[in-house]
Amino acid sequence: MRSKIVAGNWKMNKTLPESKKLVKALKKSIKNLPLENTRVIIAPTYVNLQRVSKSTKKSSIEVAAQNMHQADSGAFTGEISAEMLKSIGVELIILGHSERREYFDETDALLAKKVDQALKNKLEVIFCFGEVLEDRKNGNHFKVVENQIKNALFHLSADAWKAIILAYEPVWAIGTGETASPEQAQEMHAFIRSLVAEKYNGDVAKNVSILYGGSVKPANAKEIFSKEDVDGGLIGGAALNADDFVALIEAI
Ligand code: PGA
Repeated sequence: MRSKIVAGNWKMNKTLPESKKLVKALKKSIKNLPLENTRVIIAPTYVNLQRVSKSTKKSSIEVAAQNMHQADSGAFTGEISAEMLKSIGVELIILGHSERREYFDETDALLAKKVDQALKNKLEVIFCFGEVLEDRKNGNHFKVVENQIKNALFHLSADAWKAIILAYEPVWAIGTGETASPEQAQEMHAFIRSLVAEKYNGDVAKNVSILYGGSVKPANAKEIFSKEDVDGGLIGGAALNADDFVALIEAI
């Protein structure tokens, strides 16, 4: 079901005490916000997931993990399985983030397997994709995005899309302070929705939430979020500060 979403990706930030402090501040601030059809999601680092998931249980904050392995279990030193995440109350997983693609060589083919594994374990997937600056300069951005989505998600049934949230994150806008203009975001989001409609049907396309990510902050959020096909944001830097993150929720 399409909803408005503000999701914070904490990346490799926040110790346990810092995480607890941030969650406490968020819970307090959003308690009285009207959140009809609006989801608030945070993705702390692995070691703090269990604690955060427990302390947000009775709040309207949902908890996501930032990555997981594609296998059920086994000899994969340093890795975490979908089943483990489920067992500590995690309901969502971020997959395909550009930092995972770039620094950990995650390919579309690998991501397709991770998506299947997540869905098999009833985790909802926030699937990230986006072009690098060179692609945009060369006018290849639509093609790049189309391929990333096709290769990792188009083997799914229409029904499976109920557990998919898309996040368009132009790599040149992540952590750079540079944001896609609201028009650029809308143009790409409308294109993505039309791709999904073409492959599946209008209902699947209409119901999927498409988030924008890349240097979203209180100063630019309202304008981006106001675009018809932008259903919210995947937030990095501004999710690390309670006031900023709450301002983004208010913006939506
Ligand atoms: P940013 O990160 O908001 O710091 O640009 C966004 C993201 O990586 O999801």
